[in-house]
Amino acid sequence: MTPPPEIEKILFTEEQIQARIKDVGAEISEAYAGRELKLISVLKGSVFFLTALARAITIPVKIDFLAISSFSSNRAAPGVVRISKDLDESLEGEDVLLVEDIVDTGLTVRYLLHTLAGRQPNSLAVCTFLDKTPRRLVQAPVRFRCFEIPDRFVVGFGLDYNQLYRNLPYVAVMKL
Ligand code: IMP
Repeated sequence: MTPPPEIEKILFTEEQIQARIKDVGAEISEAYAGRELKLISVLKGSVFFLTALARAITIPVKIDFLAISSFSSNRAAPGVVRISKDLDESLEGEDVLLVEDIVDTGLTVRYLLHTLAGRQPNSLAVCTFLDKTPRRLVQAPVRFRCFEIPDRFVVGFGLDYNQLYRNLPYVAVMKL
């Protein structure tokens, strides 16, 4: 697929992404061996990662979804987030893995961990597709990650710019 003109460069190809997800899926299967895992996907960005990751995990998994909305649309001034679509099922006694597309400032993950921890899961951890560590403002414990990336705005494999580019099969840096 020829990249659109708004793309500066491809960071991770489809092949690199699939190979890395396979490894992370194996890592997760080993870490939770003998147990059942509930994957929680944050709409909409992490859905692409979730479906690939779930297929790479060999232990039994359940999935559930939540959506969040940010009060601030300004990336330079990250705002408070709130849950706009809640989970369908309880987390009580479950081993829960929060599946994120990207951890940037860490504010979203911190808020979600705080909220979900109050629902009495047996365990709660984070798996992110991309980890933009240079932009971290608050501590956000990430247990599993596919790729660390520099402080650049990226799109593809679920990540959007104004809701576009989610369907690109690779991860690319945007010309902004
Ligand atoms: P946070 O700053 O860690 O709370 O991340 C907030 C959200 O910002 C992420 O879940 C993404 O939706 C979005 N985001 C952060 N960096 C990028 C990027 O490089 N591309 C697309 N979305 C991003």
